[in-house]
Amino acid sequence: MKTSHFVSALLLLPGLALGPGAGAQEGKASAAPDPALASEYSEKGADTCLQCHSVEPFFRTKHARREDPRTPFAGLQCEACHGPGGKHAKGMAAGQLIPITRTFGAKSKQSAAEQNQPCLACHERDARVGWKGGQHEASDLACVSCHQLHTARDRVLSASGQTEKCLTCHIRQRGDFYKTSAHPVRYGTMRCSDCHNPHGSDAAGKLLAKPTLNQTCYTCHAEKRGPLLWEHAPVSEDCSLCHTPHGSVHAALLKKPPPLLCQQCHSPAGHPSFAYTANGLPSGTPSGFLLAGACTTCHSQVHGSNHPSGARLMR
Ligand code: HEC
Ligand code: HEC
Ligand code: HEC
Ligand code: HEC
Ligand code: HEC
Ligand code: HEC
Ligand code: HEC
Ligand code: HEC
Ligand code: HEC
Ligand code: HEC
Repeated sequence: MKTSHFVSALLLLPGLALGPGAGAQEGKASAAPDPALASEYSEKGADTCLQCHSVEPFFRTKHARREDPRTPFAGLQCEACHGPGGKHAKGMAAGQLIPITRTFGAKSKQSAAEQNQPCLACHERDARVGWKGGQHEASDLACVSCHQLHTARDRVLSASGQTEKCLTCHIRQRGDFYKTSAHPVRYGTMRCSDCHNPHGSDAAGKLLAKPTLNQTCYTCHAEKRGPLLWEHAPVSEDCSLCHTPHGSVHAALLKKPPPLLCQQCHSPAGHPSFAYTANGLPSGTPSGFLLAGACTTCHSQVHGSNHPSGARLMR
């Protein structure tokens, strides 16, 4: 299987080896070679490189599809990403060590911005419009801090591979997802990118996938959106007033358990004193309302109510 792909890729190549100029015209979307640098490119594109480099898995990636005019392989081929390689190829053949223009990854001599430049030339659209200015760009992450381009399967594009990748840097969040109440990210049924856009976003901070935190939650918890007859003000304002998004030691991803949660905003005063009193309760218990199983036993509709008499969020 592997071999036949490789062979067919090789068979296709000679037809393409018309020199970089022709290649670039074919690949309209690809970054056009700088005319001043034209002589710096290799003479036969990938064919030149493949004399010395065996990069078989690359031919099973989308980037190697010549029939798609947007791909590097319809244009400058290897040099679309690695930069002009003519001198490198000639030098190496003559036993002279001339490094290739651009390498990728931790050992690269190029800065993250330089590594990302060819990628952004083709990809700075769609989900990547927010890359510049996003936290990952600002922290000098390269595209290849997450992506692998010479493997048939880029792990970060699978749910489990993505979680693993994100959590190698975000160690504190790893612990969050092991707490008793957590979004099921570690089971692979959800991924970080359901809520985050790792490429950057317009959302105020935190790389959220949607413009606001609540809109991010509504993509799956649409029933919490309303409109409801009786709204509970903090719910439509910001889910994170009560919930933590990743994981919590309290039930239902709550930041604090009720009644403490509720009492951050509601004073215990105001309840009808005749029906429920603290008489006979162990000393130190502030109110019978709390003993009754925390506020939500009675006010079960914390997210709002559509019941005609649901003003007190009890039905
Ligand atoms: C004559 C053989 C030869 C040719 C032709 C050649 N290379 Fe190389 N290339 C090498 C050698 C040898 C090295 C290792 C140099 C070193 O130790 O730094 C290398 C290194 C590289 C590296 C860095 C690898 C690393 O691990 O850091 C890249 C990327 C690369 N070449 C790409 C290309 C591309 C793209 C072309 C075609 C334009 C090309 N090479 C043509 C021999 C060649
Ligand atoms: C779409 C951009 C892109 C294209 C096209 C591309 N490469 Fe690479 N290359 C990379 C990246 C990124 C890495 C870093 C390793 C990785 O991501 O898997 C790399 C790594 C390498 C390495 C270092 C050894 C390694 O595997 O880590 C060599 C050698 C190399 N490429 C040669 C080539 C050759 C030869 C071609 C053409 C057949 C080519 N590359 C086409 C992006 C590209
Ligand atoms: C010449 C244009 C071009 C360059 C340069 C380029 N890409 Fe791409 N890339 C494409 C095209 C076209 C696709 C296929 C898109 C599709 O099928 O919808 C693609 C696909 C991808 C994918 C999705 C792969 C998949 O299996 O779904 C990733 C990730 C990616 N590119 C990252 C990069 C990174 C990182 C770089 C820089 C190292 C880069 N690309 C350089 C054109 C390019
Ligand atoms: C912090 C990790 C990370 C970095 C850095 C990163 N990506 Fe991605 N990328 C991802 C993840 C995760 C996905 C899958 C998104 C999903 O499943 O919704 C992805 C998907 C993609 C895709 C294919 C999906 C699509 O939208 O069609 C492309 C293309 C891509 N990234 C390009 C880039 C480029 C270009 C850069 C650098 C400017 C980059 N990425 C930097 C994590 C990253
Ligand atoms: C190579 C390390 C690295 C990887 C991999 C990585 N990140 Fe990051 N991330 C950072 C750095 C550095 C920052 C900026 C500093 C900070 O806020 O922690 C950051 C910031 C963030 C932020 C914003 C944090 C804030 O406080 O505003 C989010 C959200 C985020 N990353 C999510 C992800 C996701 C999702 C993935 C996987 C798709 C991922 N990261 C992969 C290094 C990484
Ligand atoms: C259910 C949606 C959701 C999922 C899934 C999710 N996040 Fe978040 N994440 C958020 C929200 C919302 C915030 C902002 C919290 C705030 O502002 O109070 C956030 C904040 C962050 C931050 C900033 C620091 C912090 O903890 O507040 C980082 C880093 C982060 N997330 C990384 C990740 C990583 C890595 C994954 C996957 C392993 C992930 N997130 C999965 C919704 C999510
Ligand atoms: C991609 C879909 C998705 C998004 C987006 C999402 N959730 Fe969830 N949420 C789930 C799933 C699936 C569960 C069920 C987990 C289970 O049954 O174990 C869940 C469960 C919950 C729970 C109950 C947890 C428990 O232990 O009972 C709360 C609370 C919650 N989500 C709040 C939020 C908040 C707040 C946001 C926005 C920051 C959000 N969710 C965004 C899918 C999502
Ligand atoms: C005023 C505090 C508060 C706010 C704000 C809030 N919640 Fe909740 N949420 C709770 C409490 C308390 C529970 C536990 C309910 C129970 O024990 O019956 C809960 C439970 C949940 C659950 C799991 C049970 C269920 O009803 O499905 C989900 C999902 C959920 N909340 C999503 C959200 C979303 C999405 C938002 C924002 C739109 C939000 N919550 C805002 C207090 C709040
Ligand atoms: C972030 C602050 C905040 C938190 C936390 C909070 N609430 Fe509220 N709650 C409000 C606001 C603001 C109103 C609207 C008050 C008004 O309209 O006068 C409200 C209204 C109510 C009402 C209706 C009151 C009325 O006057 O009709 C009930 C019942 C209620 N909350 C119960 C709870 C319970 C139970 C919890 C804990 C699960 C809780 N609240 C947590 C801010 C909060
Ligand atoms: C035993 C049931 C019960 C418990 C437990 C309970 N409440 Fe109530 N609550 C009520 C009833 C009944 C009303 C309606 C009183 C009315 O309509 O005059 C009410 C009314 C309210 C109101 C509306 C304003 C007011 O004071 O009349 C708020 C706010 C409120 N409760 C918050 C809380 C909070 C916070 C807790 C937890 C500390 C809590 N409740 C626990 C039964 C309960």
